[in-house]
Amino acid sequence: MDFFEVVNARQSMRSFSDTPVEAEKLHKILKTANAAPSAGNLQGYEIYLVTKAEQRVALVKAALGQEFIVEAPLVLVFCANPARSAVWYKERGIRLYSVQDATIACTYAMLAAAALGLATVWVGAFEEEPVRQVVGIPPELVPVAMLPIGYAGKKPKKTPRRELGDLVHEV
Ligand SMILES: Cc1cc2nc3c(=O)[nH]c(=O)nc-3n(C[C@H](O)[C@H](O)[C@H](O)COP(=O)(O)O)c2cc1C
Repeated sequence: MDFFEVVNARQSMRSFSDTPVEAEKLHKILKTANAAPSAGNLQGYEIYLVTKAEQRVALVKAALGQEFIVEAPLVLVFCANPARSAVWYKERGIRLYSVQDATIACTYAMLAAAALGLATVWVGAFEEEPVRQVVGIPPELVPVAMLPIGYAGKKPKKTPRRELGDLVHEV
């Protein structure tokens, strides 16, 4: 698949099969996340890899009962690391850049997974403190997004988008 085919193939998957994710594919996903741009190249984020079933069960509860999280064999939790971005960018780094760095890395991981024929869904609806506790994330980090990854179960319909004319404002 070329880049545009990957973008077109990606869709949020909320059903996963039992098939495990190959170690080489996971490694490629993580390498791709690590290639994402970041403010000042400070990489103000951390990635936690969750594979244990009991932790995934607990993540379902932390994510307001989103059951599909436990179906995926692995979940990446992307956290902002404000202290890294603060080194150069102070308040803006703390408030904005570290969160942007984490989300861009998650996007890269999501597209890499799609390119490898894997399914993902971005999970943003969760309670931070329970996620911290389940995963063992220290208090100075901010969990920003979870990305369950696996092979697709039941595929949903494609979602619509706004028209470009509505979205793009030529000034
Ligand atoms: C910031 C953010 C938070 C999201 N949180 C959730 C979530 O908690 N649960 C979920 O099922 N999908 C979540 N999604 C996925 C969106 O619902 C999905 O991307 C959107 O409906 C478009 O569908 P598509 O991804 O299939 O193109 C989230 C997406 C983003 C970007």
